Amino acid sequence: MTDRGRLPQFDGVFAPVVYRDAAIDLLDQTLLPEEETVLRLATVDEVAEAIRVMRVRGAPAIGVTAAYGMVLAAAADPAIEAMERAAEALRTTRPTAVNLAWALDRMLRVRRRLDTDPSESIVEQLLAEARQIHAEDIAANRAIGAAGADLLPDDAVVLTICNTGALATGGIGTAYGVIRTAHERGRLQLAYACETRPRLQGARLTAWELLRDGIPFRLLADGAAGALMATRRIDAVLVGADRIARNGDTANKIGTYALAVLAGHHRVPLYAVAPTSTIDPASPTGAAIPIEERNAGEILAPRGVRLAPSAADAWNPAFDVTPAELVAGIVTERGVHRPPYDVSLPGRDRG
Ligand code: MRU
Repeated sequence: MTDRGRLPQFDGVFAPVVYRDAAIDLLDQTLLPEEETVLRLATVDEVAEAIRVMRVRGAPAIGVTAAYGMVLAAAADPAIEAMERAAEALRTTRPTAVNLAWALDRMLRVRRRLDTDPSESIVEQLLAEARQIHAEDIAANRAIGAAGADLLPDDAVVLTICNTGALATGGIGTAYGVIRTAHERGRLQLAYACETRPRLQGARLTAWELLRDGIPFRLLADGAAGALMATRRIDAVLVGADRIARNGDTANKIGTYALAVLAGHHRVPLYAVAPTSTIDPASPTGAAIPIEERNAGEILAPRGVRLAPSAADAWNPAFDVTPAELVAGIVTERGVHRPPYDVSLPGRDRG
């Protein structure tokens, strides 16, 4: 079921996903910016499909969506084994974004604690936990935005990639939250946003948000980032993260590593901006981070428009890993962490 024109809200503000009346309202991001269509998802299979095809995307938003998906799973069958199967179906949809596995594990831990409770109470308590995960992300985004904006000079000009805003999180966003906070403080001159091939999250989604928020910006082709840094003043490169290893190696949208190399060459600080739920204690370095590879069709025929000859093939990694030495700081809700990251990075809330 779809609904056009009314965007989901959590605590009175826009959210890409909310739980309402035993189903999930989810803004279909594959249709933005042309169409604002809200889907009603009532089963775990529908939630898994929405994450896999990127109707919802962005590591924290995927985590929140999966948490609500576990509420649907409990309503269908609250037995622990059934919920573990549901968690596995959701876990494999997007392997790099660690917030997904983190949220699922947190929901499963709560479920196991409720072993003797009646099923309605299990659903209610899991819904309370999912809403808590959502609320924590909103609060983390605000703290991240403030800490990150403190790093910027007056009249700041920044560069970002992909979409790390309200569409990608529970709240105002991570790297985008820093941009938005700097703008609210009257300290942002301009944000440059890479269009972000092949899924164009920058051109489609970040531009949609920047326009809604009234923030001055210019889009650029991903390949123009070098020329930008060579010819214009850029005060900082602000990027999100899908998974941060214990040593600070940072997996984020494909193209982030190239920006980091360019930023290093031009002596522009690159900050990775993420909640502590994105730090993976099980990954000692970036080498342990699984990198999702998506369908070649996303490169060869973006949004169904064939660009390459029909016999062409393509390599389509969705993420890359930026080595810690190219990251000037990691901004979380607990502040700005500086190298060496194996000492300065906080552990994350393990629920
Ligand atoms: O493939 P996507 O659109 O899910 O990738 C999103 C990113 O790479 C973001 O930078 C990251 O998830 C952080 S979102 C706050």
